[in-house]
Amino acid sequence: MNQIVQSEQAADDELGLPVFDLAVWRLAKGEAKRAHAHRFIKLCQRHGFLYIIGHGVPDVLISGLFEMSKRFFNQDMAEKQRISFLQTGGNGGYIPPKSEVTDQTTKGDLKESFAAGHRIPDVNPALAIAEKLTTPNQWPQKVPGFRPMVEGTIDTFRGVARELLAVTAEGLGGPADFFDDKVSRPIATLRLNRYPTQDPSDDTGVGIGLHTDSECMSLLVQDDVGGLQVVSPGGLWRDATPLPGALLFIIGEQLTRWTNGMLKPTPHRVINKAGRERYSGNLFFTTDVDAPVGVIGGILKPGEKPRYPAELVGDYVGRRIKEVQVRDTVAA
Ligand SMILES: [Fe+2]
Repeated sequence: MNQIVQSEQAADDELGLPVFDLAVWRLAKGEAKRAHAHRFIKLCQRHGFLYIIGHGVPDVLISGLFEMSKRFFNQDMAEKQRISFLQTGGNGGYIPPKSEVTDQTTKGDLKESFAAGHRIPDVNPALAIAEKLTTPNQWPQKVPGFRPMVEGTIDTFRGVARELLAVTAEGLGGPADFFDDKVSRPIATLRLNRYPTQDPSDDTGVGIGLHTDSECMSLLVQDDVGGLQVVSPGGLWRDATPLPGALLFIIGEQLTRWTNGMLKPTPHRVINKAGRERYSGNLFFTTDVDAPVGVIGGILKPGEKPRYPAELVGDYVGRRIKEVQVRDTVAA
């Protein structure tokens, strides 16, 4: 399939993938708008991931991001290591292969990544993630246009993420603006990833090991190589087959807390045996870093209690990052 999918029905018919058209929600009014948002929640509960079309992100931005990503990763290793995340206490810069172990039963993730994030002023230094959010981003010196491309992508994807939180709130029966005053100081981190092709006979290596994302959501763009697998809330493995022009929405652990367990975080991994490298990019997005994650008003039934402690976003995500990252590459 080479054409950008133009409608939910076309994608459902052709690939059997769950698809949500954000433009339909954006343009609808009243009961029709609420019904479309409700459908979003139903698709989330059934599949755990959705393809978002009608998101408004220009195709040229996504193709430009992949092109810039290739230029970055094609540099010499020594040049990439000049901005390794190991050089600072932060989370930004180059992340070499095997410096993260997302699944402790593996020998480490085979992918390499670049990360940069929205920086927040006056972060409470007591938060577990404070150092990572206040350490300046690191940028390559020899890839012209890389920084504005990444920063522009973060801003654009942040807008989509805020809209999807509004859809979530409305779909759950609350007001669509429920999250509006809770997303001015979010963690918004963009990662660019390159997954090497793996030996088809090796069943132990992983591009990235099985995990769930600790944020509210991740928004993913992927090239046409494939290899991403997700586990549905019913326990079914599914290939998240690339859908041209679509953003992939994956539920993170904080949405589980906001919904008191109604929306389950989506376990996923990447195994690339396609015979060529795979490129992807994703934005991780939370609500305000220094505010607690509560339960959305109206979610709790009479007598039902919150299942999770009201932990601050920056403490929760900071703790989860430390569980994954090692300070040196893992022995093969
Ligand atoms: Fe993930």
